[in-house]
Amino acid sequence: MGSKYLKVTSKINKFRKAIEIDGDKSISIRWLLLASQSIGVSKAKNLLRSEDVLSAIACLKKLGIKIIVSNNKCTVYGRGINGFKFKKNIVLDAGNSGTVGRLILPLLIRSPYKIKIIGDKSLSKRDFLRVIEPLQEIGVNFFPKGKGKLPISILGSNYLRPINYIEKRGSAQCKTSIMLASLNTPGEMKIYAKRSRNHTELMFNYLKMPITVKKKDKIDFIKTSRPKKLNLFNIDIPGDISSGAFFIALTLLSKNSQLILKNINLNPSRLGILKILNKMGASIKLKNVKSKKGEKCGDIIVKSNDKLKAINCPSSLNSSAIDEFLIIFLIAAKSKGISYFKDLSELNKKESPRLKLGSKILNMIGVKTKVTNDSIKIYGNPNINLNKEYEIKNYLKDHRIMAMCTIAALTLGGKWKIYSPESINTSFPSFLKILKNDFKVKFK
Ligand code: S3P
Repeated sequence: MGSKYLKVTSKINKFRKAIEIDGDKSISIRWLLLASQSIGVSKAKNLLRSEDVLSAIACLKKLGIKIIVSNNKCTVYGRGINGFKFKKNIVLDAGNSGTVGRLILPLLIRSPYKIKIIGDKSLSKRDFLRVIEPLQEIGVNFFPKGKGKLPISILGSNYLRPINYIEKRGSAQCKTSIMLASLNTPGEMKIYAKRSRNHTELMFNYLKMPITVKKKDKIDFIKTSRPKKLNLFNIDIPGDISSGAFFIALTLLSKNSQLILKNINLNPSRLGILKILNKMGASIKLKNVKSKKGEKCGDIIVKSNDKLKAINCPSSLNSSAIDEFLIIFLIAAKSKGISYFKDLSELNKKESPRLKLGSKILNMIGVKTKVTNDSIKIYGNPNINLNKEYEIKNYLKDHRIMAMCTIAALTLGGKWKIYSPESINTSFPSFLKILKNDFKVKFK
């Protein structure tokens, strides 16, 4: 890859396929971070090898952790809690990844030296105060004081205290940051979190770390405290539903096609997209569902559907579909009626302002929208059939915008030039390979 733009000039032919996709990003990053804090050698199969995960590996290596990646396997030689070994003045580069940037900080809260955290252009625009402030309350120091964006430096402390933390955004990164801080903090951390993906809770449970979770309405009340040690753990990582979402959309929006996505992570806190699409009439089914180390996984079966209808999306589903809204907006654009999505201000705080840019892309292909800072109305058109030329540039190299536009081009028609196609390597490096090899798509 690395070419200046991807050219898509014809729709995909009808298909019947069963495919596997790359490993889950949230689980891959969490496993690397926790394995680095355990004692002994931990191994993963099907670890995602995307840029975000490579950033996590590079940061941990700079902190003195030996990690070997070969083919489909990854081995981490853990050094125990706070066992990092590193020199003064190191700089950790989180690349494009909010998860790496925000989740590496709590592992550094006892660092005797200042460590600088940097990121790419997109990550340097994103809010870090959301994790800096609670970590400061725990006793951690950040420089320059009051700065909320990367680059920032962190300096640990030996005088850390547990906090009562209220997480109101439904952000799993904020919740996890404080949960990970409890590895190095005496006493009991109390977290009242608006429900969000719970991979960290499941890993803590599996590792028999001190944790309790009480669920009430939409809130999880989590208590964690410092374990004596962390045991090594091996993992087999299922496919990422956030990547699978693009192939679900490809199938729904194509004619007479069917797809089985095999061995996908089906954690209920990630299934918002399936709930939303089924409310729109998609009838997506699950098969072979089993539980592996606390995480559900199985196959997703989806068929083409030209009778999709609009949705007034309950905001209670927002957190469980947060990375899928761009592709959901595209599906809403081809559904009958006016769809409405609300309470979505977080969407403008992702790798790019996705609410704004998603709306702009729909307008570009002739779909009417009404967008505010936290909501969007999409005036769907089931007969949409594109025949103009479209150029996708200046989207902060957001991987999910790249994938959304590729699916739009393959299902709605038109002649598309999508710039910086390598941006997809952030989360889904096999995306184009699967389209070429399994679906015989020819890109010019
Ligand atoms: C993630 C949480 C979500 C999501 C991101 C991955 C995680 O971010 O958008 O892609 O792995 O915890 P927020 O916590 O900011 O909602």
